[in-house]
Amino acid sequence: MDKTQIDEIKRRVDILEVVGDYVELHKSGKGYRALCPFHSEKTPSFYVMPDRQFYHCFGCGKGGDVISFVMDVEGFSFTEAIELLAKRAGVKVEKRARKDSYPNFSDILEKALKIYRDYLESPAGEIARRYLVQRNLPKEWWPYFEIGWAPPAWDYLWRSLSRMGISSKIVIECGLVVEGPRGIYDRFRGRIIFPIRDVTGRLVGFGGRSISGEGAKYINTPESPVFHKGSCLYLLNLSKNDMRNKGRAILVEGYMDAIRLHMAGFHETVASLGTALTENQGELLRRYARSCYVCYDADTAGQEAAIRGMYLLQSLGLQVRVVALPANVDPDEFLQKEGSNAFEDLLSKSLPLPLYHLEIREKFLKDLNVRKKVIEELLEGFSRIPLPDLAPFMSQIAAALEIPRYALEAMLLDFKANMKRGTEKKGKRGDFSVYINRQKQQKQKKHVTDAQEAALFSLLWNDPAKRRGLDEEHIFPLIKDVRLKNLIAALLNGESPEELEERWLKSGDRFPLEALALGNAFCQQFDEGVDIFDVISSSLKTKAMKSRYNVLYSKMLKGEATREEIEEMQKIASALKGGREDK
Ligand code: UTP
Ligand code: MN
Repeated sequence: MDKTQIDEIKRRVDILEVVGDYVELHKSGKGYRALCPFHSEKTPSFYVMPDRQFYHCFGCGKGGDVISFVMDVEGFSFTEAIELLAKRAGVKVEKRARKDSYPNFSDILEKALKIYRDYLESPAGEIARRYLVQRNLPKEWWPYFEIGWAPPAWDYLWRSLSRMGISSKIVIECGLVVEGPRGIYDRFRGRIIFPIRDVTGRLVGFGGRSISGEGAKYINTPESPVFHKGSCLYLLNLSKNDMRNKGRAILVEGYMDAIRLHMAGFHETVASLGTALTENQGELLRRYARSCYVCYDADTAGQEAAIRGMYLLQSLGLQVRVVALPANVDPDEFLQKEGSNAFEDLLSKSLPLPLYHLEIREKFLKDLNVRKKVIEELLEGFSRIPLPDLAPFMSQIAAALEIPRYALEAMLLDFKANMKRGTEKKGKRGDFSVYINRQKQQKQKKHVTDAQEAALFSLLWNDPAKRRGLDEEHIFPLIKDVRLKNLIAALLNGESPEELEERWLKSGDRFPLEALALGNAFCQQFDEGVDIFDVISSSLKTKAMKSRYNVLYSKMLKGEATREEIEEMQKIASALKGGREDK
């Protein structure tokens, strides 16, 4: 793809229209503001500037042009983003440029899918149709899930494809046929076909269920240049919008489970294709949802591999909740028996991962032979959860483990440190390294200024009445950051937020908007009805007094303090003490 084509696409699509498909934009000066689609916030810090065709979030720092927006929001590669935008703009993209996406593969897979789909509807597909109907998957739904049927014949697909002039080499590479000593034969024989598409909707492979009981119950396309099982989630292309809208994903094990949930209206469901969860799959989910409801069969849910997968999801930033199904029932069967209200009920009774883990291991804690091992397993898991996410459960965990809270905290930190050392020494990219890398990233994103000071600024920015009722003497002693002082002075002098915002955007000065985003995010943690301004100013006041006290105290120790300063120190001390006694 050459640069002129990309420029042409960028000229023809309007970033406002594209972004507007994902978030609600509000006019603000020359630009538009919205709640950021890339991080969770309640006050918008996400800007789109149509004149310069770019976006930027002052809260999380993401920004770029329309192409990078589509890449981020859809989880697309550069080429995929270009394709989507080209379609929108009506620009033809030359195929030869699609080096990384093996265009032939998907075309051939589409041809195969059509053959399988046609066969299901043909007279010879009777046996498969009966099977599907008997499983309560009626024909109205077949087109939606694009279900097909690979007949039990030896090489039906291969003969059809070769008649179209397609070479055996490429069909073998696609994984559709296999070359054996007696010639080429179809991989999928006598199987219901479930097509697997990637996030962009591109066909990458198939799953096939045997209906005769012969061979493995399910087989998949083998790994190929387009099919990477660990990067796919079944039905993701049909569920990503609902995931985004509902903020949650439902994760199940089986094809039929995912299908049943979609039929029941849970369109935010994907299946993991029967393998251990991978980081890639987790990243895909995190792109669209904040929480993930894991709904595995009762027997798998407690298994170590499954638990490890759930911690992987949690370490990537998803809030994992585990849905408990009755024994020996999978989601497909549960929905057929109990209906969708009962399932919704199960979802609402789901447990956050650490509490679930605790619950299923609790009975072993009484057994002194395994107690130590179980505690280690639990701590290893818990230590992968960022501390703020774990905090709400700490007292429950401490009680269940019969370990005092302070000791539990120390053990967790120890565990974290050990794991870190372990991974660093081996230089191995274990699952845990994901978490450590995230921590590093988080540390690197240093805050632009003190969050409390920024919060005072944002409160003033958002509330004209507050600005009018305040004078500089009251607030300036609380603000250490000179840049913030200047901004607050501008506000108190009557400059309107709109004008200021316009000016900042024009000059490209990031500090004010980043400080604002930080302040807004800080205020978000308070419950409604709290006088945040009051809480923060008294906390800053205390902070200021403490630091003044420390200055005076060290002066006194050096014998440099004047009589007035010593008096001031004593006053501060009693004021600070008084403040404490109030509470
Ligand atoms: P299950 O054995 O739980 O089957 O496998 P299921 O989903 O309930 O299937 P039905 O309802 O009998 O048709 C769960 C998932 O594990 C993978 C498949 O992805 C399946 O959907 N699996 C299972 C395989 O890959 N191979 C197998 O032989 C069995
Ligand atoms: Mn099943």
